[in-house]
Amino acid sequence: MNTENIALFVAALPIPVMVIGPDDRIEAVNQPGEAIFGPHLIGRHHVSVVRQPAMVAAIAEARAGKDRQVTRFINRDGAKDIRYRVAVAPAGEQIIVTFEDQTASEEAGQMRRDFVANVSHELRTPLTALLGFIETLSGAARDDPAARDRFLEIMAHEASRMTRLVDDLLSLSRVEEDERVRPKEHVDLSALLSSVIKGLEPQAEAAEVVVMLDIQSPDVMVAGDAGQLVQVFTNIIENAIKYGASGKQVTVTLVGRQNDVRLRVEAVEISVSDQGEGVASHHIARLTERFYRVDSHRSREVGGTGLGLAIVKHIINRHRGRMQIESEEGEGTKVSVFLPTS
Ligand SMILES: Nc1ncnc2c1ncn2[C@@H]1O[C@H](COP(=O)(O)OP(=O)(O)OP(=O)(O)O)[C@@H](O)[C@H]1O
Ligand SMILES: [Mg+2]
Repeated sequence: MNTENIALFVAALPIPVMVIGPDDRIEAVNQPGEAIFGPHLIGRHHVSVVRQPAMVAAIAEARAGKDRQVTRFINRDGAKDIRYRVAVAPAGEQIIVTFEDQTASEEAGQMRRDFVANVSHELRTPLTALLGFIETLSGAARDDPAARDRFLEIMAHEASRMTRLVDDLLSLSRVEEDERVRPKEHVDLSALLSSVIKGLEPQAEAAEVVVMLDIQSPDVMVAGDAGQLVQVFTNIIENAIKYGASGKQVTVTLVGRQNDVRLRVEAVEISVSDQGEGVASHHIARLTERFYRVDSHRSREVGGTGLGLAIVKHIINRHRGRMQIESEEGEGTKVSVFLPTS
Protein backbone atom coordinates (compact mmCIF):
# COMPACT_ATOMS: atom_id res chain seq x y z
CA MET A 1 0.00 0.00 0.00
CA ASN A 2 1.26 3.49 -0.67
CA THR A 3 1.41 6.13 2.06
CA GLU A 4 -1.78 7.83 0.97
CA ASN A 5 -3.79 4.61 1.06
CA ILE A 6 -2.35 3.69 4.42
CA ALA A 7 -3.43 7.07 5.81
CA LEU A 8 -6.97 6.61 4.48
CA PHE A 9 -7.14 3.08 5.80
CA VAL A 10 -5.89 4.04 9.26
CA ALA A 11 -8.24 7.04 9.45
CA ALA A 12 -11.21 4.70 9.02
CA LEU A 13 -10.35 2.58 12.05
CA PRO A 14 -12.18 3.36 15.30
CA ILE A 15 -9.41 2.53 17.78
CA PRO A 16 -6.06 4.35 18.07
CA VAL A 17 -3.67 3.15 15.36
CA MET A 18 -0.16 4.27 14.44
CA VAL A 19 1.89 3.14 11.44
CA ILE A 20 5.67 3.31 11.59
CA GLY A 21 7.48 3.47 8.28
CA PRO A 22 10.74 1.77 7.20
CA ASP A 23 12.71 4.83 8.40
CA ASP A 24 11.29 4.37 11.95
CA ARG A 25 9.28 7.56 11.55
CA ILE A 26 5.54 7.82 11.97
CA GLU A 27 3.91 7.37 8.62
CA ALA A 28 0.24 7.49 9.58
CA VAL A 29 -1.88 7.94 12.67
CA ASN A 30 -5.62 8.32 13.08
CA GLN A 31 -7.59 10.81 15.14
CA PRO A 32 -7.95 8.51 18.22
CA GLY A 33 -4.16 8.07 18.06
CA GLU A 34 -3.63 11.84 18.01
CA ALA A 35 -5.88 12.05 21.07
CA ILE A 36 -3.18 10.07 22.92
CA PHE A 37 0.01 11.49 21.43
CA GLY A 38 -0.99 14.97 20.30
CA PRO A 39 -1.02 16.55 16.80
CA HIS A 40 1.71 16.84 14.13
CA LEU A 41 3.07 13.33 14.44
CA ILE A 42 3.71 12.48 10.81
CA GLY A 43 7.43 12.29 10.00
CA ARG A 44 8.55 12.30 13.64
CA HIS A 45 10.76 9.52 14.95
CA HIS A 46 8.58 7.14 16.97
CA VAL A 47 10.97 7.11 19.95
CA SER A 48 10.45 10.84 20.52
CA VAL A 49 6.69 10.33 20.51
CA VAL A 50 6.16 7.05 22.33
CA ARG A 51 8.76 7.46 25.07
CA GLN A 52 7.72 4.39 27.09
CA PRO A 53 10.54 1.78 27.13
CA ALA A 54 8.32 -1.33 26.88
CA MET A 55 6.66 -0.06 23.74
CA VAL A 56 9.87 1.27 22.17
CA ALA A 57 11.48 -2.13 22.81
CA ALA A 58 8.56 -3.95 21.18
CA ILE A 59 8.84 -1.75 18.10
CA ALA A 60 12.59 -2.41 17.91
CA GLU A 61 11.97 -6.14 18.08
CA ALA A 62 9.32 -5.93 15.39
CA ARG A 63 11.84 -4.08 13.24
CA ALA A 64 14.31 -6.91 13.89
CA GLY A 65 11.78 -9.35 12.47
CA LYS A 66 9.83 -10.53 15.50
CA ASP A 67 6.17 -11.44 15.01
CA ARG A 68 3.17 -9.75 16.56
CA GLN A 69 3.78 -8.77 20.22
CA VAL A 70 1.57 -7.41 22.95
CA THR A 71 2.71 -4.76 25.40
CA ARG A 72 1.25 -1.99 27.54
CA PHE A 73 1.07 1.76 27.33
CA ILE A 74 -0.16 4.08 30.06
CA ASN A 75 -1.39 7.54 29.16
CA ARG A 76 -0.93 9.77 32.20
CA ASP A 77 -1.99 13.01 30.57
CA GLY A 78 -5.53 13.40 31.81
CA ALA A 79 -7.13 13.47 35.23
CA LYS A 80 -6.65 9.73 35.53
CA ASP A 81 -4.39 7.16 33.90
CA ILE A 82 -5.69 5.34 30.84
CA ARG A 83 -4.21 1.88 30.32
CA TYR A 84 -3.86 0.44 26.85
CA ARG A 85 -3.09 -3.03 25.66
CA VAL A 86 -0.86 -2.43 22.66
CA ALA A 87 -0.32 -4.80 19.73
CA VAL A 88 2.85 -4.24 17.70
CA ALA A 89 2.80 -6.12 14.41
CA PRO A 90 5.13 -5.96 11.42
CA ALA A 91 3.33 -5.65 8.07
CA GLY A 92 5.82 -5.66 5.20
CA GLU A 93 8.01 -2.59 5.55
CA GLN A 94 5.68 -0.99 8.06
CA ILE A 95 4.95 -1.68 11.68
CA ILE A 96 1.33 -1.36 12.77
CA VAL A 97 0.67 -0.36 16.38
CA THR A 98 -2.89 -0.61 17.74
CA PHE A 99 -4.17 0.42 21.16
CA GLU A 100 -7.06 -1.09 23.12
CA ASP A 101 -8.33 0.87 26.12
CA GLN A 102 -8.37 -1.55 29.05
CA THR A 103 -9.36 0.95 31.74
CA ALA A 104 -13.07 0.11 31.86
CA SER A 105 -12.60 -3.64 32.09
CA GLU A 106 -9.81 -3.27 34.64
CA GLU A 107 -12.04 -0.99 36.72
CA ALA A 108 -14.92 -3.44 36.46
CA GLY A 109 -12.60 -6.20 37.65
CA GLN A 110 -11.43 -4.05 40.55
CA MET A 111 -15.03 -3.24 41.48
CA ARG A 112 -15.94 -6.89 41.45
CA ARG A 113 -13.00 -7.76 43.69
CA ASP A 114 -13.85 -4.90 46.09
CA PHE A 115 -17.45 -6.04 46.17
CA VAL A 116 -16.57 -9.63 47.03
CA ALA A 117 -14.12 -8.41 49.68
CA ASN A 118 -16.81 -6.16 51.20
CA VAL A 119 -19.46 -8.87 51.25
CA SER A 120 -17.05 -11.37 52.80
CA HIS A 121 -16.01 -8.88 55.42
CA GLU A 122 -19.60 -7.99 56.28
CA LEU A 123 -20.52 -11.66 56.66
CA ARG A 124 -17.40 -12.63 58.52
CA THR A 125 -17.98 -10.21 61.40
CA PRO A 126 -21.33 -11.67 62.53
CA LEU A 127 -20.16 -15.20 61.75
CA THR A 128 -17.12 -14.80 63.98
CA ALA A 129 -19.36 -13.50 66.74
CA LEU A 130 -21.78 -16.42 66.31
CA LEU A 131 -18.98 -19.00 66.41
CA GLY A 132 -17.56 -17.39 69.54
CA PHE A 133 -20.91 -17.55 71.33
CA ILE A 134 -21.56 -21.11 70.26
CA GLU A 135 -18.21 -22.07 71.75
CA THR A 136 -18.93 -20.23 75.01
CA LEU A 137 -22.41 -21.72 75.24
CA SER A 138 -21.16 -25.24 74.78
CA GLY A 139 -18.38 -24.70 77.31
CA ALA A 140 -18.09 -22.15 80.08
CA ALA A 141 -21.64 -20.79 79.95
CA ARG A 142 -23.34 -24.15 79.58
CA ASP A 143 -25.02 -24.08 82.99
CA ASP A 144 -25.48 -20.35 83.33
CA PRO A 145 -29.07 -19.53 82.30
CA ALA A 146 -28.62 -15.76 82.55
CA ALA A 147 -25.56 -15.75 80.27
CA ARG A 148 -27.28 -18.18 77.92
CA ASP A 149 -30.27 -15.88 77.45
CA ARG A 150 -28.07 -12.87 76.84
CA PHE A 151 -25.87 -14.72 74.35
CA LEU A 152 -28.86 -16.15 72.51
CA GLU A 153 -30.23 -12.64 72.12
CA ILE A 154 -26.97 -11.39 70.64
CA MET A 155 -26.81 -14.44 68.38
CA ALA A 156 -30.31 -13.76 67.08
CA HIS A 157 -29.28 -10.16 66.42
CA GLU A 158 -26.16 -11.19 64.47
CA ALA A 159 -28.06 -13.81 62.50
CA SER A 160 -30.73 -11.31 61.51
CA ARG A 161 -28.00 -8.91 60.39
CA MET A 162 -26.76 -11.57 58.01
CA THR A 163 -30.26 -12.25 56.74
CA ARG A 164 -30.76 -8.55 56.10
CA LEU A 165 -27.45 -8.32 54.29
CA VAL A 166 -28.36 -11.21 52.01
CA ASP A 167 -31.84 -9.76 51.39
CA ASP A 168 -30.31 -6.40 50.51
CA LEU A 169 -27.81 -7.98 48.14
CA LEU A 170 -30.55 -9.88 46.34
CA SER A 171 -32.66 -6.77 46.18
CA LEU A 172 -29.74 -4.79 44.75
CA SER A 173 -29.10 -7.29 41.99
CA ARG A 174 -32.80 -7.46 41.12
CA VAL A 175 -33.04 -3.69 40.93
CA GLU A 176 -29.93 -3.48 38.76
CA GLU A 177 -31.36 -6.08 36.47
CA ASP A 178 -34.58 -4.25 35.62
CA GLU A 179 -33.19 -0.73 35.82
CA ARG A 180 -33.76 -0.15 32.12
CA VAL A 181 -37.44 -1.10 32.16
CA ARG A 182 -39.52 1.90 33.15
CA PRO A 183 -42.27 0.98 35.65
CA LYS A 184 -45.89 1.48 34.62
CA GLU A 185 -48.13 1.06 37.69
CA HIS A 186 -50.02 4.16 38.86
CA VAL A 187 -48.98 4.93 42.39
CA ASP A 188 -50.73 7.29 44.79
CA LEU A 189 -47.79 8.84 46.64
CA SER A 190 -49.56 10.30 49.67
CA ALA A 191 -51.20 6.95 50.45
CA LEU A 192 -47.88 5.18 49.95
CA LEU A 193 -46.04 7.60 52.26
CA SER A 194 -48.69 7.24 54.99
CA SER A 195 -48.42 3.49 54.93
CA VAL A 196 -44.61 3.56 54.99
CA ILE A 197 -44.67 5.87 58.01
CA LYS A 198 -47.20 3.62 59.72
CA GLY A 199 -44.95 0.64 59.15
CA LEU A 200 -42.03 2.45 60.74
CA GLU A 201 -43.99 3.53 63.82
CA PRO A 202 -42.49 0.90 66.17
CA GLN A 203 -38.98 1.96 65.16
CA ALA A 204 -39.82 5.63 65.55
CA GLU A 205 -41.31 5.02 68.99
CA ALA A 206 -38.28 3.04 70.11
CA ALA A 207 -36.02 5.86 68.96
CA GLU A 208 -38.33 8.49 70.47
CA VAL A 209 -38.69 10.24 67.15
CA VAL A 210 -41.93 11.77 65.87
CA VAL A 211 -42.53 11.44 62.12
CA MET A 212 -44.76 14.14 60.60
CA LEU A 213 -46.30 13.89 57.13
CA ASP A 214 -46.92 17.17 55.34
CA ILE A 215 -48.89 16.66 52.12
CA GLN A 216 -48.84 19.95 50.24
CA SER A 217 -50.09 18.49 46.97
CA PRO A 218 -52.67 15.76 47.46
CA ASP A 219 -53.67 13.24 44.78
CA VAL A 220 -50.26 13.08 43.17
CA MET A 221 -49.92 10.02 40.97
CA VAL A 222 -46.68 8.79 39.46
CA ALA A 223 -45.90 5.97 37.08
CA GLY A 224 -43.95 3.70 39.35
CA ASP A 225 -43.34 0.38 40.98
CA ALA A 226 -45.16 0.56 44.30
CA GLY A 227 -43.08 -2.13 45.99
CA GLN A 228 -39.84 -0.42 45.01
CA LEU A 229 -41.07 3.03 46.03
CA VAL A 230 -41.98 1.60 49.44
CA GLN A 231 -38.37 0.37 49.65
CA VAL A 232 -37.06 3.85 48.75
CA PHE A 233 -39.05 5.77 51.34
CA THR A 234 -38.71 3.09 54.01
CA ASN A 235 -34.93 3.37 53.79
CA ILE A 236 -34.81 7.17 53.67
CA ILE A 237 -37.27 7.64 56.54
CA GLU A 238 -35.66 4.81 58.50
CA ASN A 239 -32.26 6.52 58.07
CA ALA A 240 -33.76 9.78 59.35
CA ILE A 241 -35.11 7.93 62.40
CA LYS A 242 -31.85 6.02 62.98
CA TYR A 243 -29.47 8.92 62.48
CA GLY A 244 -31.73 11.78 63.61
CA ALA A 245 -31.20 12.29 67.33
CA SER A 246 -33.82 10.90 69.71
CA GLY A 247 -36.63 13.08 71.00
CA LYS A 248 -36.60 14.99 67.74
CA GLN A 249 -38.78 15.26 64.69
CA VAL A 250 -38.62 13.88 61.17
CA THR A 251 -40.69 15.69 58.55
CA VAL A 252 -41.80 14.09 55.31
CA THR A 253 -43.06 16.62 52.75
CA LEU A 254 -44.79 15.93 49.44
CA VAL A 255 -45.02 18.83 47.03
CA GLY A 256 -45.72 19.05 43.30
CA ARG A 257 -43.29 21.00 41.10
CA GLN A 258 -44.43 22.59 37.85
CA ASN A 259 -41.11 22.19 36.17
CA ASP A 260 -38.11 20.46 37.63
CA VAL A 261 -34.99 22.26 36.40
CA ARG A 262 -32.86 19.16 36.20
CA LEU A 263 -35.44 16.61 35.05
CA ARG A 264 -37.04 19.18 32.67
CA VAL A 265 -40.53 17.80 33.25
CA GLU A 266 -43.36 18.19 35.71
CA ALA A 267 -42.28 16.43 38.86
CA VAL A 268 -43.07 15.80 42.48
CA GLU A 269 -40.64 16.34 45.33
CA ILE A 270 -40.70 14.14 48.41
CA SER A 271 -38.30 15.35 51.07
CA VAL A 272 -37.38 13.80 54.38
CA SER A 273 -35.76 16.15 56.93
CA ASP A 274 -34.31 15.22 60.26
CA GLN A 275 -32.67 17.16 63.07
CA GLY A 276 -29.83 14.73 63.65
CA GLU A 277 -26.09 15.28 63.58
CA GLY A 278 -25.92 15.66 59.82
CA VAL A 279 -23.23 14.45 57.45
CA ALA A 280 -19.98 16.28 56.57
CA SER A 281 -20.00 17.47 52.96
CA HIS A 282 -17.13 15.25 51.79
CA HIS A 283 -19.17 12.16 52.72
CA ILE A 284 -22.36 13.22 50.93
CA ALA A 285 -21.42 12.25 47.38
CA ARG A 286 -20.33 8.81 48.57
CA LEU A 287 -23.43 7.87 50.62
CA THR A 288 -24.99 6.03 47.68
CA GLU A 289 -21.94 3.78 47.21
CA ARG A 290 -22.43 0.20 48.27
CA PHE A 291 -21.38 -0.44 51.87
CA TYR A 292 -20.48 3.21 52.46
CA ARG A 293 -21.20 4.29 56.02
CA VAL A 294 -20.06 7.51 57.63
CA ASP A 295 -19.46 5.95 61.00
CA SER A 296 -19.40 2.27 60.22
CA HIS A 297 -19.21 1.25 63.85
CA ARG A 298 -22.25 3.26 64.85
CA SER A 299 -24.19 2.37 61.73
CA ARG A 300 -23.47 -1.31 62.30
CA GLU A 301 -24.80 -0.98 65.84
CA VAL A 302 -28.11 0.25 64.50
CA GLY A 303 -28.14 -2.65 62.09
CA GLY A 304 -27.05 -0.85 58.93
CA THR A 305 -25.29 -2.64 56.07
CA GLY A 306 -24.71 0.51 54.00
CA LEU A 307 -26.64 -0.89 51.04
CA GLY A 308 -29.87 1.06 51.61
CA LEU A 309 -29.03 4.20 49.65
CA ALA A 310 -27.31 2.21 46.88
CA ILE A 311 -30.61 0.40 46.32
CA VAL A 312 -32.51 3.69 46.56
CA LYS A 313 -30.34 5.25 43.85
CA HIS A 314 -30.94 2.40 41.40
CA ILE A 315 -34.69 2.46 41.99
CA ILE A 316 -34.86 6.22 41.47
CA ASN A 317 -32.82 5.90 38.26
CA ARG A 318 -35.28 3.31 37.07
CA HIS A 319 -38.08 5.81 37.72
CA ARG A 320 -36.13 8.47 35.74
CA GLY A 321 -36.00 10.59 38.86
CA ARG A 322 -33.19 12.10 40.87
CA MET A 323 -32.11 12.38 44.47
CA GLN A 324 -30.49 15.21 46.37
CA ILE A 325 -28.90 15.11 49.82
CA GLU A 326 -28.30 18.30 51.75
CA SER A 327 -26.83 18.31 55.20
CA GLU A 328 -25.52 20.68 57.79
CA GLU A 329 -23.36 19.20 60.52
CA GLY A 330 -25.11 19.52 63.86
CA GLU A 331 -28.31 20.76 62.18
CA GLY A 332 -29.72 17.81 60.31
CA THR A 333 -30.11 16.21 56.91
CA LYS A 334 -32.62 16.63 54.11
CA VAL A 335 -32.97 13.93 51.50
CA SER A 336 -35.15 14.88 48.53
CA VAL A 337 -36.45 12.60 45.83
CA PHE A 338 -37.79 14.07 42.60
CA LEU A 339 -40.02 11.87 40.47
CA PRO A 340 -41.50 12.79 37.11
CA THR A 341 -45.30 12.92 37.11
CA SER A 342 -45.70 13.11 33.36
N1 LIG B 1 -30.43 11.08 57.70
C1 LIG B 1 -29.15 10.78 57.89
N2 LIG B 1 -28.39 11.45 58.81
C2 LIG B 1 -27.08 11.13 59.00
N3 LIG B 1 -26.43 10.19 58.31
C3 LIG B 1 -27.11 9.49 57.38
C4 LIG B 1 -28.49 9.74 57.12
N4 LIG B 1 -28.90 8.91 56.14
C5 LIG B 1 -27.84 8.16 55.82
N5 LIG B 1 -26.76 8.49 56.57
C6 LIG B 1 -25.41 7.90 56.48
O1 LIG B 1 -25.32 7.25 55.24
C7 LIG B 1 -24.91 5.90 55.40
C8 LIG B 1 -25.49 5.05 54.31
O2 LIG B 1 -26.90 4.93 54.44
P1 LIG B 1 -27.62 3.61 53.89
O3 LIG B 1 -29.08 3.76 54.05
O4 LIG B 1 -27.08 3.35 52.53
O5 LIG B 1 -27.03 2.49 54.84
P2 LIG B 1 -27.41 2.07 56.33
O6 LIG B 1 -28.62 2.82 56.79
O7 LIG B 1 -26.16 2.17 57.13
O8 LIG B 1 -27.74 0.55 56.14
P3 LIG B 1 -29.07 -0.11 55.50
O9 LIG B 1 -29.89 0.98 54.92
O10 LIG B 1 -28.52 -1.05 54.48
O11 LIG B 1 -29.71 -0.79 56.65
C9 LIG B 1 -25.37 5.54 56.80
O12 LIG B 1 -24.58 4.51 57.35
C10 LIG B 1 -25.16 6.85 57.56
O13 LIG B 1 -23.81 6.94 57.96
MG1 LIG C 1 -30.38 2.83 55.56
